Amino acid sequence: MFLAGTNITAVTLEWAMSNLQNHSDVLNKAKDEVDAQVGQQHLGGRTRPLKASIHKKHNFRHSLRLYPPTPLLIPHYSSDNCTIDGYDVPRGTILLVNAWTIQRDPRLWEDAESFKPERLETGEDDAHKLMTFGLDRRASPGASLAQNVLGLTLGR
Ligand code: HEM
Repeated sequence: MFLAGTNITAVTLEWAMSNLQNHSDVLNKAKDEVDAQVGQQHLGGRTRPLKASIHKKHNFRHSLRLYPPTPLLIPHYSSDNCTIDGYDVPRGTILLVNAWTIQRDPRLWEDAESFKPERLETGEDDAHKLMTFGLDRRASPGASLAQNVLGLTLGR
């Protein structure tokens, strides 16, 4: 929890800030949205209006797609024989999921290498393609906390 709650969240913020600085059009759009929906007077602690502004959420989620801080997720271990996408995986195998590659796969994403947060506004981020927090039962229990912290920090 300490590692995930500090280092991974900080690394994600660093990537999100770098992406915004390298894409001034996206930065300006996010800034305009925060200015319009929140304004300066709410930034000193009254965070609720900031939470309601979602554009920055798209920004960091999109950073997570291109620069996942845990690119191979966390190693999984098969408790029984199973088949994954036609491959027989014996019991006791350590399996790494290459989320980095999946999230940049041109068969799944149009213009896969480009930072375009607006694509997430059209629902292109269905859960099976964007798996930065893992999926299903072993997915990160900190996902909700992390997304709130990231959204609020980036928004401020
Ligand atoms: C941007 C932030 C974060 C990312 C990208 C992230 C990502 C991940 C990933 C990929 C896993 C492994 C999922 C799998 O096994 O397939 C995981 C597990 C976990 N995460 Fe996070 N995480 C983040 C923030 C946090 C925070 C803030 C906490 C707690 C304060 C947290 C606590 C945990 C714990 C306890 C596990 C292990 C769960 C288990 O094995 O059942 N994470 N996280």
